[in-house]
Order: sequence, then C-alpha cells, then structure tokens
Amino acid sequence: MKRFRQLRTDKKTRDKFAETSLRADDIIYPMFSVNGSRVKEEIPLFYGVNRYSPDMLAIEAGSALSRGINKILLFGTVADKVKNPAASFSASSAGPVPFTVKMVKKLFPEITVITDVCLCGYTDHGHCGFVRKGKVDNDATLPLLAAMAVAHADAGSDIVAPSAMMDGQVQAIRQALDKNGHHKVKILAYSAKYASNFYGPFRNAAKSSPAFGDRKTYQMDYRNAKQAMDEIKADIDEGADMVMVKPAMAYLDIISRAVKEFPKVPIAGYQVSGEYMMLKLAAKKGLMDEKEAFREALTAIKRAGAKYIITYYAKEAAVFLNT
Ligand code: PBG
Repeated sequence: MKRFRQLRTDKKTRDKFAETSLRADDIIYPMFSVNGSRVKEEIPLFYGVNRYSPDMLAIEAGSALSRGINKILLFGTVADKVKNPAASFSASSAGPVPFTVKMVKKLFPEITVITDVCLCGYTDHGHCGFVRKGKVDNDATLPLLAAMAVAHADAGSDIVAPSAMMDGQVQAIRQALDKNGHHKVKILAYSAKYASNFYGPFRNAAKSSPAFGDRKTYQMDYRNAKQAMDEIKADIDEGADMVMVKPAMAYLDIISRAVKEFPKVPIAGYQVSGEYMMLKLAAKKGLMDEKEAFREALTAIKRAGAKYIITYYAKEAAVFLNT
C-alpha cells in the first residue's frame, strides 16, 4: 500500500509537497475608471469593487502595489450622454482610461498598466462593435478598436487587451500600434472569450449591457473547446503576445488545453465578476469561508496552467500569498 497520507500529516509537510503556489506576480487587478476627481463610487451587487476617478484609482493601485500586486487591467466607464453608435469617445484622449493611465504611470511607473479595448462601454446600444442594420459589423469595427488601442498607447499603456471578439482585431491593432510608433506596446488578446452568464456584475459596473439581443454572435459558444484553440492560434498568428481564457472556473479545461497546445505563449485566466460575486454571496450567507474559497478557486486557475490570473480578489489575495 502506498501511504499518501504521509504527505498530508501537517501544514509544513503539505506545503513541502504542494505542486502549485500563487505569487503576487501572477495576479492582475481589474479596475474601473471614470472621469472626474475624488470619485469613489460603489457598484451595487459588486462588493468591494468601485469606480474611481484617475486620482483615486492611482491611490488604490498604489495600495495594491504596496502588497506586491504590480499589474492592473483598466476599464473605462462613461456617461450615457457621450455614448453613440460609433463609440467616438472610446478613442478620445479625454476619456477616463487615458487620464488614468497617465496618472498611474506618473505616480507608479513600476505598475504594468493593461487597458481593455472594447466598444461596449462607449456605444449607445452596448454592443462590442459597430452596428449596421441591427447587426454587429465586424470589419467596420476594426478601425474603431485600432484607434482606441492607439489612444491608450499614446497615454502610456504598456499592454492593450482587445476583448470585443471581432475577427482580425489583433492584427488591426498591431498594425495601428506599429504605424504610430508603439512597437513596444504588447497585446493581451481575449482570445477564448465565451458568451457567458457570469458577466452580470461587470455589466452593471461598466453600464455595458446590450440594449437588444446578446453577444452570442461574436463571443464563443460554451459548447466549444477545439474552436477556442483555433481562436487562440489565429490571435497568436496576428501578433498577440499573451492570450486569455475567460471566464476561468467553468473553463479550466480550456486553460489547460491551451497551455499544452501553446507552451510558448503566456496564458491568462480571468476570474470574472460573476465568479467573484458567487463566492462573496455564498460566504455572506455562511456557506463557506470566503478566504479559503477564493484561495482554492485562484489556485485552481494556476494549477490548470495559467501564468496570469485576473481577479477582483487581487488585493485580498495578496495578503495570504506568503502564509
Ligand atoms: C467587455 C468585457 C466584459 C468583461 C470584460 N470585458 C463584458 C462582456 O463581454 O459583456 C467581463 C468581465 C467580468 O465579468 O468580470 N466586452
């Protein structure tokens, strides 16, 4: 008989035989920015997550940095009155993202700033692309995404993260960045992004729910895994430096398969807003110990093979990393 229990006798022994460990360096902290100053707005049913004006967001990013979290992923949220069919404000240097990037970079140059590139927070209908005759028009969307990425790079973003799930978006963005002298700016592609039910709290935060229809014509069908590999391959061929699988917990098989098929490219797993709030609410009702539960969930993403983990628990996770 093999005595496996010898490996579990006490914490020290268990730690010695642990195959996976989380590090602060693996974690990316997603944050929501708005224009203005001294703004810190709570978001209903998205506990502990706020919308920040650039000054306040920089303070929060600095506080994460002091815990060892040195990467943030920025989303912009804007007022309904500046939203329009062409998402014009998405590429404006006066938008919340460029302002915030500048502020964070000025105060904490060592923070890696990643910016989400998608139109849904800037279109009046809430779809991720340009809509023509009631349909999202792929090719008409590409130049808009490219312009948005260039605006972020102009402000000092280190990495742009296209999440609109338009075909050819990585190539369009790479070409536009290069044309504008931003050779150093990298691309984290949301390559395998599923049309998921787990994005609810985020859509409240970004005020980006589609006004008609859903995102199933561009985000992936969750019945598919092989197709995710094709999406990832296409993005790598188009110039993605890193790729993402999203959501994470219900898609660990996709992460682990992607790691095997694309060993040279760093893979990020995104524990999305719904995954986060499920844990928060269950813990609030006393069904589980929150810290232990999110530690398990984040470790599972790492165990599946993700190099980077995007999580709203970033700051809280940093606290237990060395325990
Ligand atoms: C934008 C975008 C979404 C998320 C990240 N980027 C929402 C969506 O596709 O509807 C979701 C993130 C989360 O739920 O935490 N397209």
